[in-house]
This record gives sequence, C-alpha cells and structure tokens, in this order.
Amino acid sequence: MRAIQVICRKIPDVMPREEMKRPLIRGRGVGSRSLEALISDPATPVVGVLGTGDFSRSLSGRLVASGYQVVVGSRSPKRSRALFPEEAEVTSQKEAASQAGVVFVALFPEHYSTLAGLRQVLAGKVLVDVSNAVQVNLCRTSHAEQLADMFPESHVVKGFNTVSAWALQTGPRDGNRQVMLCGDSAEAKAVVGGLCRALGFAPVDTGLLAAQALDLENLPLRLFPSWRVPVLSTLGLFVVFYLYNFLRDVLHPFVALGRAPAFYKLPVETVNATLPAVALVTLASVYAPGSLAAGLQLSRGTKYARFPSWLDRWMGRRKQLGLCSFACAAIHAVYSLCLPMRRSARYKMLNDAFKQVKEGVADSWQEDEVWRMELYLSTGIMALCLLSLLAIASLPSVADALNWREFTFVQSWIGLAALTMATLHTLLFGWDRAFDPGQYRLCLPPTFMVALALPLAVLCSRLALSLPCLAAPLARIRRGWERSRHLRFSLPVEEGGAVGNGRSLEDISNV
Ligand SMILES: Cc1cc2nc3c(=O)[nH]c(=O)nc-3n(C[C@H](O)[C@H](O)[C@H](O)COP(=O)(O)OP(=O)(O)OC[C@H]3O[C@@H](n4cnc5c(N)ncnc54)[C@H](O)[C@@H]3O)c2cc1C
Ligand SMILES: NC(=O)c1ccc[n+]([C@@H]2O[C@H](COP(=O)([O-])OP(=O)(O)OC[C@H]3O[C@@H](n4cnc5c(N)ncnc54)[C@H](OP(=O)(O)O)[C@@H]3O)[C@@H](O)[C@H]2O)c1
Ligand code: HEM
Repeated sequence: MRAIQVICRKIPDVMPREEMKRPLIRGRGVGSRSLEALISDPATPVVGVLGTGDFSRSLSGRLVASGYQVVVGSRSPKRSRALFPEEAEVTSQKEAASQAGVVFVALFPEHYSTLAGLRQVLAGKVLVDVSNAVQVNLCRTSHAEQLADMFPESHVVKGFNTVSAWALQTGPRDGNRQVMLCGDSAEAKAVVGGLCRALGFAPVDTGLLAAQALDLENLPLRLFPSWRVPVLSTLGLFVVFYLYNFLRDVLHPFVALGRAPAFYKLPVETVNATLPAVALVTLASVYAPGSLAAGLQLSRGTKYARFPSWLDRWMGRRKQLGLCSFACAAIHAVYSLCLPMRRSARYKMLNDAFKQVKEGVADSWQEDEVWRMELYLSTGIMALCLLSLLAIASLPSVADALNWREFTFVQSWIGLAALTMATLHTLLFGWDRAFDPGQYRLCLPPTFMVALALPLAVLCSRLALSLPCLAAPLARIRRGWERSRHLRFSLPVEEGGAVGNGRSLEDISNV
C-alpha cells in the first residue's frame, strides 16, 4: 500500500472561537472577502466531498467556514453548483478526487460501485466513509470495509456518521461534540481527527475497521438500548401491581361484598397505590445486585472471578433502574399532593362530617392517625429529596465534576439512605394494618406489604454486610486479597507460647 498522500498542508488543531461564530454559508459580497482570500491561499488544506446531498452540503459549509478549500464531486456539477457556498468548487467526481488529499464519500453505500473508476486517483488518499446502516445488523460486513475492499490502495476511515447534517450546520454547540472514528491506518485517523477538531468536534478513536465499523454504522439506529430492560421491567411491575390493586380495592368490594362500584378509583387512587409500589421495588432492585455481588465475592473468596452474566447485566442497568424509580416516585408525589383536590375526596369528607354530626361526635381527632400521617409524609418527602440528589448527580455534567469517591458516596450511601427513608415511609403508611385481618382481601396482603418484601431484604443484607465479621473480609477481598492464595503455615512457637513475632496467621496474606 502506498504512503498517505494528504494534500493538506496545514490542519489547524483547534478551531478559533471566532470561526465558530461565523455564519455557515456565506452570501456573496460583504464579509466573504477575507474568507475568499484565505481559501485562495495555497497553504489552505483541500478536502474533497463526493456527492451533493444533504450531508455533503452541510459538511462543505462547515469546512469552508473553518478555512478549508472544498472540492465537491458530482455526477452533474452544473445542476448542483447553486446549492453550495461560492467558496466551494463543484466539479466532476474525478476532478474532486484528484485535487483533494482527504475525500469524504457522502453517497449511500448502494452507489459506491459507481465510484469504481476513481480507484487510481484515490490511491494513497484518505477516504472517509460517513454512511449509516439501513437496519441494525442487516449486513455482516460494514460499508466501510466494503469501501476498503473496493479501494485497497486508499486509507479508509469510518467516521462522522454519528453526526447529523443538522449538527454539522449548527456546529457542535447544540449537541454532542464527540465524533467516533475507526480505521486501520493510524496516520489516516490522525488526519481525520485533526480535521474533526478544526470543525469544533472531539474525535474519539474507537479502533480498527473490522472491530468497530459495523457498530458505528448501527449506532445512529439504536433506540435507547440500555433503557429497554429497565423500562420494560418498570412497565411490567406497573401492570402487575395495578391489577393487584384493582382486584383488592375495586373488584373485590363490588363483587364479593356487594358494595357500590368504585371504578372512579381507577384513574387516580389505583394509580397512586401502584406507582409508589413500583418505585419502591425498582429502587430496591438498584441496591439488590450490590448485596448479591458482595455475597458471591465472600463465598468465592476473591473479586477476580467473573459474576454470572445476568448479574453483570443487572449491575450495568442500575442507573436506568434508579432513574425509572425516581420518575415513578416523583409522579406519585404529584398524585399524592392532588388527592384532596378531587371531588370524590370532598364528598367523602362531607359525608363523614354529616355522619359524625348525626352520631353527635364533636371531635374526630385520632392521635395515632395524626402521627402516622405526619411521619409517613415527612419520610416520603425526605426520600424524594434524596432521590433527586442522585438523579442530579447522574447528569454527565455533574458526574464529571465529582471524583470517584464523591460519586460513590452519593450513589451508594445517599442512595441507601433514600431506600431506607422510602421503606420507612411505606412502613409508617402501613402502621398496624399488617396485623388487621380485614386488610387481607381474597387472602391477598395489602399492596404496601408486597412492595416492602424486596427493600427489607436488601436493607437487612446491607446491615449484615456491615457487621465486622463480614465487612472486614469483604473489604480485604475488594482490595485484592484472595482466599486461594492465602498460605497457611505455622511459625515456630517461642518461649512462653507466643507465635513468631507476634503477628497472627491471618495477617500473612497474598504471600
Ligand atoms: C436516581 C438514581 C440515579 C442513579 N444514577 C446513577 C449513575 O448515574 N451512575 C451509576 O453508576 N449508578 C447510578 N444509580 C444506581 C446506583 O446508585 C449505583 O449503581 C450505586 O453505586 C449502587 O450502590 P451499591 O452500594 O449497591 O454499590 P456496589 O456496587 O455494591 O458497591 C458498594 C461498594 O463496594 C465497592 N465495590 C463494588 N464492587 C467492587 C469491586 N469489585 N472491587 C472493589 N470495590 C468494589 C464500591 O465502590 C462501593 O464503595 C442511580 C440510582 C438512582 C436511584
Ligand atoms: N443526512 C444526514 O444527516 C446524514 C448523517 C450521517 C450520515 N449520512 C450518510 O451520508 C451519506 C449521504 O447522505 P445524504 O443524506 O447526503 O444523501 P442524499 O441527500 O440522498 O445525497 C446522496 C448523493 O449521492 C449521489 N447519488 C445519488 N444517486 C446516485 C447514484 N445512483 N449513483 C451515484 N451517486 C448517486 C447524489 O449526488 P450527485 O448527484 O451530485 O452525484 C446525491 O446528492 C449516506 O451514506 C448517509 O448514511 C447522512
Ligand atoms: C414528596 C414525596 C412523597 C409524598 C408526598 C408521598 C405521599 C404518599 C401518600 C399520600 C401515600 C398514601 C397514598 C394512599 O392513601 O393510597 C403514600 C403511600 C406510599 N408511598 Fe409515598 N410519598 C412520597 C414519596 C414516596 C417515595 C419516594 C416512595 C418510594 C420510593 C414512596 C412509596 C410509597 C408507597 C410504597 C406507598 C404505599 C402505597 C400503597 O400501598 O397504597 N413514596 N405516599
């Protein structure tokens, strides 16, 4: 393969701020003179773009605004001329390919075969493949590798496909600055990386074509892949708890007890009994894998053995599960604050008041009910505040400003405090109802009891793990100590019965 022939005499490393402020596509006349002068300067790098579509137009505008000479190659240059800034030259594909050192291929991959005649002029040059997959994993070979097979004397770099034509027009100010690149030539990637920086983006070298190109091509088509399981499990829990509440609170009193139908409960009351249960169970599921992982590490006596893949995947989805829990808890708080506003609540209050008057009850104050509500509301509010802190800390801009210890403190300790508060809130809400046989309708326990099972198990396991007999070996294991490499041997017994120099056998680890 020939050496890279980059007709790129000067690549600015960082784009000056002023450049970013300039309009993308300049009109003829005032203001464009200095740019024209810059572009006619022979030291200005030349970049070629094949194709005259949306991507080509946006990229050319951005390149021109960043001080590059742009040569656009089209099958019909005359027709396309008017679509480009006047500083860009629109010519035939062959002419464009021969003038530039870096050539962007802004065509759909099904048209790559039409470029076969350019093989010689493109030899030794850097070809940038910007194409995206049409459907995830439709092809086994990436478009970039297909292009590299077609042009074996060129250096193909995959990149810019994750940037939309719109982002190129507005510049990186509006969104993600990262541009993923991959390719087999380090030199070619460095050239494209420099170009990226000059356009105001941040290049990220992801590796070789064979390893990364297919993934990069699929990337823009993926729809929140890490959210699928957490969202589906949250929705699944919602359906299960909703049906459970419907059965206990709406259907059972109507069918079995012959009371008036209470379907009015479905939009607010049943939802507000369902959402908090989902929030609590999901929050517990964020901290459950930590306990399971600690248990496995303790039983195996090492942290170097892999966790089962289901646990690995679970651990990797804790952020999304946590945010789903936060969303459910926040909506539950809004619903709860709106409960007294409902007509049904007002009618019920009036009816109760009327009943009391008829029965001659002057004071309906019940001390323990007052305390129950004061306490469960207060703990609920605290739980939501702590969850809000976690949610704020998970924003990339905030997380980046925290060091590892601060982040772990917030996510691990404040998270556990939130789980404790939410569990207390639910326990206080339940008060003594767990012991009231009337609450077990259709032999089903009240919802809050079902929702409490996992959080209580997680909190008990964390308490157990904090006992010195478990916490100390766990801390040692997490620092790299391994039971299998821990040699046991006896030291000579000194006079008076002391062993060796007074050190215990347990101190001699990792010998
Ligand atoms: C609203 C909300 C937002 C969230 N946002 C995020 C987020 O942005 N990012 C995120 O990652 N999670 C997030 N989470 C999930 C959750 O807070 C974290 O995963 C949290 O770290 C789990 O805590 P844990 O105690 O179970 O951690 P564990 O993984 O059990 O860790 C416990 C301690 O052991 C240490 N440890 C664990 N494994 C090892 C090991 N193999 N070797 C050495 N030390 C080890 C840890 O550093 C930690 O100090 C969020 C949760 C919620 C509710
Ligand atoms: N649009 C985006 O936001 C975006 C973002 C990332 C990546 N991309 C990728 O960029 C590439 C181009 O996308 P686009 O949106 O710019 O497409 P487009 O608007 O359809 O433009 C494609 C260009 O290809 C040329 N062409 C069309 N038919 C052809 C044929 N039969 N043979 C040879 N050339 C032909 C045309 O240029 P001439 O007629 O001048 O030859 C046309 O302008 C695609 O691979 C896409 O995946 C696009
Ligand atoms: C501002 C914060 C909060 C307020 C104002 C609040 C308020 C309430 C109210 C009024 C109820 C009783 C609902 C009813 O009568 O049916 C309730 C129940 C409950 N709350 Fe909260 N809450 C808050 C936060 C939370 C959080 C953060 C969680 C868990 C993560 C949570 C979990 C629960 C649970 C599980 C129940 C029992 C539901 C049932 O079985 O009916 N709450 N809360």
